[in-house]
Amino acid sequence: MAQQIKTSKRKTFDDEFFTMYKDVVRELHKYDLRGKKIICPCDTRESNIYKYLKDCYYDVKQDGKEWRKVDYNKYDIVITNPPFSQVREFLRYLVEIKKDFIIIVSDVLRYSIKQGKFDLGIPIYKGWDAQKFYRPDGTIKSIHCGWISNIPDSWEENKLINEIK
Ligand SMILES: C[S@@+](CC[C@H](N)C(=O)[O-])C[C@H]1O[C@@H](n2cnc3c(N)ncnc32)[C@H](O)[C@@H]1O
Repeated sequence: MAQQIKTSKRKTFDDEFFTMYKDVVRELHKYDLRGKKIICPCDTRESNIYKYLKDCYYDVKQDGKEWRKVDYNKYDIVITNPPFSQVREFLRYLVEIKKDFIIIVSDVLRYSIKQGKFDLGIPIYKGWDAQKFYRPDGTIKSIHCGWISNIPDSWEENKLINEIK
């Protein structure tokens, strides 16, 4: 019993992997987001996703506290790199409330979606990879991730994930 308590206490998730500006530009420049109300629900003002959208003069808000408490009715689209430990719940929720999204997920999850093992019941588009992230101490860590969305990009570059060979 003592061992069980010790184990569960140790089970804290490390979700602090910050997106690089270049990975934001590379994907988001493909979308025409003019006139859309954008929410970045897992982003502080320091987030490069938020910074890029601000730099483009888009109508964007951030809320890096609790994505579950955001009133998504106020927004047209969700753009973020969510905590990896909550990403499945986050995605299912966005699909349930029928909200457009452009987000970063792990390659493992992209593969699960492609294989139909994590079925969201809607078409999902695959965007660019994002493979390096800043850590809170300023170091860079490689993780295999990439963008996905439930809307096509304006240039129609992204392909439906299940149709990619
Ligand atoms: C993978 S990091 C990405 C951070 C930022 N979106 C970016 O792209 O640089 C996920 C962030 O979500 C934050 N987070 C964890 N739980 C959250 C929650 N319930 N609501 C909102 N943000 C959360 C973490 O603290 C972490 O900073």
